[in-house]
Amino acid sequence: MKITVIGAGNVGATCADVLAHKELVKDVILLDIKEGMAEGKALDMWQAAAIENYDTRVTGVTNDYEATAGSSVVVITSGIPRKPGMSRDDLISTNAKIVKDVTENAVKYSPDAKIIVVANPLDVMTYTACLASGKDTRSVFGMAGILDTARFKAFIATALNCSPKDVQTLLMGGHGDTMVPLPRYTTVSGIPLTDLMDKETIDAIVDRTRKGGGELVKLMGTSAWYAPGAAAAQMAESIIRDQHRTFPVCVGLKGEYGIHDIFLGVPVKLGLNGIEEIIEVELTDDEKKLLDESANAVKGVMGILDDMKFFSNKC
Ligand code: LAC
Repeated sequence: MKITVIGAGNVGATCADVLAHKELVKDVILLDIKEGMAEGKALDMWQAAAIENYDTRVTGVTNDYEATAGSSVVVITSGIPRKPGMSRDDLISTNAKIVKDVTENAVKYSPDAKIIVVANPLDVMTYTACLASGKDTRSVFGMAGILDTARFKAFIATALNCSPKDVQTLLMGGHGDTMVPLPRYTTVSGIPLTDLMDKETIDAIVDRTRKGGGELVKLMGTSAWYAPGAAAAQMAESIIRDQHRTFPVCVGLKGEYGIHDIFLGVPVKLGLNGIEEIIEVELTDDEKKLLDESANAVKGVMGILDDMKFFSNKC
C-alpha cells in the first residue's frame, strides 16, 4: 500500500516522517514542486530508517504525479503558511489555486484515494479539494480537530501536571478563532475537567487553544509543523488500519447539527471508507450558538472561493 504526501515543507515532511515511523505502508511518496527538496528529505528519512528501525520506504519526487499512482491516501499540505499578523483566511487566493491543481493531479493517478487536506484556510481548502476531486464529502476531509484538541490537551496537561495521554476531549467548528472547544466533553481518565479546574482557568485554556496556531506563528515567524504533521499521520493511520477512531475532522455537512453544505469540524469515525460515520452529540443552546457562529464564519470564506468561480460542480 502507498500513501502520498504532497508538499515537502515542514508539515509534509513531518507527516511523511511520522508515517514512516508508524510503518503503516510499504511506500510513502513525498512530492514537491521545488526541485530536489522532496528527494533530499526522503533520502534523509530513508537513511534514518536503519537507526530508527523502520522499513517504510519514503521516496521523494519533483512534481512527478505518476509516482503517486495507486495511493490509498493522499495528504495535501501544499500552499503557503501564515506569517505573523496574517489570519488563515488571508491565504485563500494563493492556496485555493494550488490546492485545486494538486488535487486534480493526485486524483488522476489515485482515483480511489481518500484525501486528507491540511492546507489553510483549512475548512475552505477542504471544500476546494472536494470540488476539484469530484469525489463525495465522505472521501475528502480536513485535518484540524486532532491538532486543535491536541493543543487543548497539552494546555490541560500543563495546568494539571498530568499526562496528555489521559486527557480526552472534543472540539468542533472551523479551524480558526471561532473553533469551539467543549470543556463539558472533556475528562482526565474519566474525571470531568469541570471537577478538576475552576471556570476561569478553563476559560483561559479555551481561549489559548483558539489562538494556539497564532501563538506559534508569533514565536516562530511561520506556522507550526510537528503537531500538524503528526495529526495528519494519525488520520491516515485510522484509515489504513480501518481503526474507526473517533476524532473531530473537517467534513462537508449535509444537515448534521442542522448545518447544510458547510465544511466544518465535527466528531466522526475514520476508517477505510473515509468518514464512516458523523457523530451528532448533544449540545447546549450556548454551545450550538458558538457552533453556528463558527459555521457562519466558514460559510463567509467559502463564499470567497465561490466568487473565484474555479468550479461549476458542487459537493
Ligand atoms: C496551525 C496551522 C497549521 O494551526 O493551521 O498551526
